[in-house]
Amino acid sequence: GLRKKEVNVLCLGLDNSGKTTIINQLKPSNHSSPLGPFSEEWKHVSQTQTQEIVPTIGFNIEKFKSSSLCFTVFDMSGQRRYRNLWEHYYKYNHAVIFVIDSSDKLRMVVAKEELDTLLSHEDIRSRKIPVLFFANKMDLQDAMTAVKVSQTLCLENIQDKPWYICGSSAIKGEGLQEGLDWLQEQFG
Ligand code: GTP
Ligand code: MG
Repeated sequence: GLRKKEVNVLCLGLDNSGKTTIINQLKPSNHSSPLGPFSEEWKHVSQTQTQEIVPTIGFNIEKFKSSSLCFTVFDMSGQRRYRNLWEHYYKYNHAVIFVIDSSDKLRMVVAKEELDTLLSHEDIRSRKIPVLFFANKMDLQDAMTAVKVSQTLCLENIQDKPWYICGSSAIKGEGLQEGLDWLQEQFG
């Protein structure tokens, strides 16, 4: 039979942006999940959702399978002291999910710096890998819109890679499906 396509996905973004919360939402849960369709189609390989999310140390690896794809997600720590780990995984990855805390206006410039460093890295620069942006924490009152986040990060300058941004609220489970549908299409 056909082998499932193996897709390694690197999940990046500053600490506290919501990376682990997003990935946790993709796992099946015992409660009625707002991501029902995703959870039904995709089988998470190890455990179910965890109740408490703690800052990631180093990184965690999670696997999700659909009928045609096998996603291995590298959930990296966004803390400054661990960001130098990111680049060691660039060459093994086929897609990037970049998460932004849309309410963290003070650190938007830091997020942009890290994104620019990522995009100019030799293991990323020359490859047409898809980049999915989540403008996360849309549920917060002072969150910037996805359009504003996109402008602030100058995403229109990315011309050599497919990219997509969607607003999300990881704690409500909103916007995640839209982003993942897009990511899946890139490997369809
Ligand atoms: P590091 O592992 O340190 O890099 O952080 P992270 O990007 O994995 O962030 P994490 O998922 O640990 O979330 C950080 C905090 O933000 C937690 O308290 C989450 O509950 C909260 N959070 C995540 N997503 C959202 C969201 O969409 N809205 C709100 N209001 N809070 C969120
Ligand atoms: Mg984390």
